[in-house]
Amino acid sequence: MRNVAIVGTGYVGLVTGVCLSEIGHNVICIDIDQEKVKKLKAGKLSIFEPNLEELMITNIERGRLSFTSDHAEGFKDSEVIYIAVGTPQKTDGSADLTHIEQVAVQIALHAKRDVIVVTKSTVPVGTNERIKEIIHEYLVSDIKIDIVSNPEFLREGSAIHDTFNGDRIVIGAECEHAATIIEEINKPFQIPVYKTDIRSAEMIKYASNAFLATKISFINEIATICEHVGANVEDVAIGMGQDSRIGTKFLKAGIGYGGSCFPKDTNALYQIAGHKDYSFHLLKTVIDVNNKQQTLLVDKAKKRFGFLKGKKIAVLGLAFKPNTDDIREAASIFIINRLIAEGAGVTAYDPIAVKKAERVLRPEVQFMSNIEKAIHGTDAVFIVTEWREIIDFPLKKYVELMNRPIIFDGRNCYSLNEMKKFPIEYYSIGRPIINGKTTNKGDTHMSVSVGKWTKYKLILE
Ligand code: UDX
Repeated sequence: MRNVAIVGTGYVGLVTGVCLSEIGHNVICIDIDQEKVKKLKAGKLSIFEPNLEELMITNIERGRLSFTSDHAEGFKDSEVIYIAVGTPQKTDGSADLTHIEQVAVQIALHAKRDVIVVTKSTVPVGTNERIKEIIHEYLVSDIKIDIVSNPEFLREGSAIHDTFNGDRIVIGAECEHAATIIEEINKPFQIPVYKTDIRSAEMIKYASNAFLATKISFINEIATICEHVGANVEDVAIGMGQDSRIGTKFLKAGIGYGGSCFPKDTNALYQIAGHKDYSFHLLKTVIDVNNKQQTLLVDKAKKRFGFLKGKKIAVLGLAFKPNTDDIREAASIFIINRLIAEGAGVTAYDPIAVKKAERVLRPEVQFMSNIEKAIHGTDAVFIVTEWREIIDFPLKKYVELMNRPIIFDGRNCYSLNEMKKFPIEYYSIGRPIINGKTTNKGDTHMSVSVGKWTKYKLILE
């Protein structure tokens, strides 16, 4: 078992620290945010991640996991130091490496024994070599520094599960000795290891995220075409996915990808790729498609109503995906900003992301404590995050509570057959409209059978 230090207690750092302590290593997590460290020492998380808090408390109690704000204390006995600090996006789309560089200086000043420095943060190709240069520039002790790139592939909301069940662990190293130690550290996870050079490892992370983002933008484009030709994108995705070369995963059409990784990493790779003779056109299109996709529901609603001024609209789901309270680059932000700019009144509901959303969204938004309150008296509902609670919400309640039941579903939460049983006007992504008056090949006049709805209302009353 090894003595390991992790710098940065965000998603990646904390999950790595907790999971490495769970498999038996002695782990000390370092963060310059003293308030955060105080909370973590008391077993409290500032992020929502299933099972993370329980596992963290267990390992603190076992004496294998501790926290500090002091780099000297953190590095004193460490044989391996993981860098897991943020690499936020700069205004030009490239990755900001300030935090990484600061950690490199701290390692140079405080490491006291030969150490392997492992970068978990997503960094542009060549950054690990730069880290080594900085460490050597400021190094005060006579010690040996080895550098390893070990990119992280976990997903928010299933981070613990992914750490124990990942498809591969990528280790990019310049010497076999360092690679072998990192391989041994990870052995208890029993996940296949792929060893390569540092630059290729750095590239694997960007290429993987860019490829997954491409799959999403591709299926979203197919969804738009499906709407024009009257096909159903869900059936198309299933039929495509049965070809094992394509695979079924990441072919769910919706309102695009958000979160802390895909938007940032695709922009960063686009920046890295570009030079005077080359531009990554395909990736640029993937990004553009996603930007457009994120506010598609607003376009659909405008087409349906003609204008949104004065309309009361409920937005259900604010997190960028279910099982997280993360709203970074979430479609909800872009949608709500546009709705407000169009003059609509917005109510919003999310099971856990409201606190974070309140800090980011405009003060005009009315946050509600449940779905019923959010949709009551509204002219339209936008489904933005496919929380279980939203999927399971009884459809008849939309009919009872809304001014007139019109749903714009950005996540295809409901089966079309189920929806047909209700007098709800239903617009989803890449699928036929329900209860809208359609003409040839799925084109829509956006007028509904008012009679059906009124009849249903009367039965309910
Ligand atoms: C992603 C990668 O999956 C992970 O490997 C990497 O390390 C970090 O980035 P994460 O951001 O947690 O993880 O979320 P993920 O589950 O991949 O979803 C990203 C976004 O894509 C979400 O907004 C999701 O709604 C969207 N998505 C995903 C789709 O729209 N369709 C899909 O088929 C899959």
